[in-house]
Amino acid sequence: MTGFNNVLLIEDNLDDARLVGTYLDDHFGKGCTVHLAATLAATLAAGLAALGEAEPDVVLLDLGLPDSQGLAGYLAVHRAAPGTPVVILTGDDDDELALDALRTGAEDCLAKQHTTSATLLRAMRLAVQRRQLGEGLHRREAQCRAIEVDVERCVGERTASLESANAELRGLNRSLAHDLRGPLAGIIGMTQLVRRDAREVLPSTAWRRLQLIEQSALDMNGLIERLLSLAEQRQQAPPRERLDLTALAQAIAERLTAAEPRRPVRWRIAPGIAAQGDRALVASLLQNLLENAWKYSRTTAAAEIEFGCEIPAESPGESQDEGPGAEATVFFVRDNGVGFAMEQASQLFEDFERLPSSAGHEGSGLGLAGARRTVERHGGAIWADSSPGAGATFRFTLGRGSRGGESR
Ligand SMILES: Nc1ncnc2c1ncn2[C@@H]1O[C@H](COP(=O)(O)OP(=O)(O)OP(=O)(O)O)[C@@H](O)[C@H]1O
Ligand SMILES: [Mg+2]
Repeated sequence: MTGFNNVLLIEDNLDDARLVGTYLDDHFGKGCTVHLAATLAATLAAGLAALGEAEPDVVLLDLGLPDSQGLAGYLAVHRAAPGTPVVILTGDDDDELALDALRTGAEDCLAKQHTTSATLLRAMRLAVQRRQLGEGLHRREAQCRAIEVDVERCVGERTASLESANAELRGLNRSLAHDLRGPLAGIIGMTQLVRRDAREVLPSTAWRRLQLIEQSALDMNGLIERLLSLAEQRQQAPPRERLDLTALAQAIAERLTAAEPRRPVRWRIAPGIAAQGDRALVASLLQNLLENAWKYSRTTAAAEIEFGCEIPAESPGESQDEGPGAEATVFFVRDNGVGFAMEQASQLFEDFERLPSSAGHEGSGLGLAGARRTVERHGGAIWADSSPGAGATFRFTLGRGSRGGESR
């Protein structure tokens, strides 16, 4: 801005008004291209009336007027023309008043006795520029607010559609669970009947196998129940209880052996392994890992499957209890089966991922993805170590709360 088209001076003291007029003439009179029409008003009421007509670029306002004293005058001018910059001229050399004026929104506040032509012109120019900057800022704030309201609506719509997709999935889960429970109840009921009715005539191995079938069906029922309730409260960590992992692994080994009794597999299940976790989820995790070990060692002449744990070294004086520095126990399932090349294994824990080594073995590539979800829900991790023909070792933790492994 190089000059002013119109300045409104609200001043009741004629000498002061003349002085300001001289300052303005000094400047704008000297070959300035801008036309200056200073309007003089001697009272606040006259000033406010002139404000509407003159539409000044800047208002110079005296705070001691016959009809107004102090900052009330500024507030009235601001209310009448909020977009017009105001420079206050006071007879008081009072810093507190000047600060109050700035806090209230005035662009500048000058003490008349120290004002010169140069300082007045400078204050007027800065006042106009400050007002323009402020307006630019307000415009940008308004744009930002508008963008925020855009964004919020999008998030709202996306959330609503996710919620409805989730509700749909929950519904699907419930009906699947319902449909699965029916045949399972049939298997359990029939097995119980056969075991009761044919107890006297069945050989003991057949009777034990029926018991394993019944137990498997009951386990599956429990798992469906747990998965359903976990799906309903996905945000919460699963409840933990103390689990006898040795017993769980032994039961799974017995079931696998019963299904293929002729396979000479050497099981090595370490005694006394315990952990804190969700029973159904951890049982299903062990089932997946031991089932893989069983499946992928099928072509090995002297197959061996091992389940154990590696307890991390403790710092001196650290107790056996879970403490802030305690590391999680690492559990492992090892076999000496076909193994796989580690460079092929980056997606091993993703849904439907099967490696070339799985050729000729049944499966859908979902077991390890489920295993990963289970350890992650417990705050743990799972990883593998293998090489082709040399078997595979799967290690996992169940988070800091899982510390176990000590003898019961
Ligand atoms: N112990 C193992 N030895 C060799 N390869 C393994 C072993 N465990 C898993 N894999 C490889 O990882 C892949 C993924 O395993 P995952 O358990 O997810 O699926 P799957 O066993 O093929 O099928 P599913 O478990 O769904 O019946 C397997 O297809 C196989 O290639
Ligand atoms: Mg599997």
